[in-house]
Amino acid sequence: MPGFSSHLIAWQRAHGRHGLPWQGTRDPYRIWLSEIMLQQTQVAAVIPYYARFLERFPNVAALAAAPVEEVMALWSGLGYYARARNLHRTACTVMEKHGGHFPVSATALAELPGIGRSTAAAIAAFASNERAAILDGNVKRVLCRAFGIEGFPGERAVEERLWALAESLLPENAEDIGVYIQAQMDLGATVCTRARPACRACPLAAQCVAHATGRIAELPTPRSRKTPPRRASRMAVVILGDSVLLERRPPAGIWGGLLALPEIPESIQIETWAMRKLGVAQASAQALPPLVHAFTHFTLEIAPWRIDLPAAPRMLAEPAWQWQALERIGSAALPTPVRRILENLNRTNADA
Ligand code: ADE
Repeated sequence: MPGFSSHLIAWQRAHGRHGLPWQGTRDPYRIWLSEIMLQQTQVAAVIPYYARFLERFPNVAALAAAPVEEVMALWSGLGYYARARNLHRTACTVMEKHGGHFPVSATALAELPGIGRSTAAAIAAFASNERAAILDGNVKRVLCRAFGIEGFPGERAVEERLWALAESLLPENAEDIGVYIQAQMDLGATVCTRARPACRACPLAAQCVAHATGRIAELPTPRSRKTPPRRASRMAVVILGDSVLLERRPPAGIWGGLLALPEIPESIQIETWAMRKLGVAQASAQALPPLVHAFTHFTLEIAPWRIDLPAAPRMLAEPAWQWQALERIGSAALPTPVRRILENLNRTNADA
């Protein structure tokens, strides 16, 4: 396609996004932080987190020196928490293996935890004008439509074809690479959107195969799969005075490392669970409003049950359990649905 990169570059200069907090810097630490936060997360959601993070951790040394719990707490609410754990691991690796200097080549970056090929290329392009191709979900969509590429882009063969295409489209001039990469991200986010793309505003429309053949709605080819499976989970909201019982999740798996509510297995009655686990002679449980939370691969239906304890158990049955003051949940590392449940609780308490 003639002029692919030059059309995009000209379009970015006139219509792309400018003045975002992570633009206009060459500091690889700041660029890296923004790219990790922007994975699967919208610009508007990232902006306040980015500012808070940089205030608390202005450089890689500050981030590496912090306890991982503090990093998780500052990340709380952004989702996809493996990103936060990898962020901290990467900061430690940069201190230990790179003498505190953040690498700027795509190859070195891609060896760090949580930095894939596309993110490595974006950071290298923004920080040091390296000519490396990106291929995130937005770019895949643009390429599939512009070049009429068939097949689900998550499939290995299709993805390899897209990588080769992306490499072949890079602008010749290294000085343009940052604008070109940003153009691809901006076009996918603001014009060539998944639903109802704004083809009339698109710099590639005249050459776009999907546009010319009326196949915008069919490309990229969707994954052939049904709706994600649903899982149910009963969660205990155990209240003792002004505190709630929380469980530190193991590092791997959903909500790894975060503080969540203890789960009550399906196989046991809630009252029985409470008597056994909390060492009380009697317990009554009250159903709180249910919540649905969508993960990438499944949907979680949460049924929270409130259990009020009259007195503290002599000891906690699980080593991962801890009491948390309800008035301090604002700064705790909680996954979003757990935060919602506890905030509703605070509201109900205040109303009562
Ligand atoms: N998504 C991923 N990286 C981005 C960036 N640098 N600007 C805007 N959106 C992005």
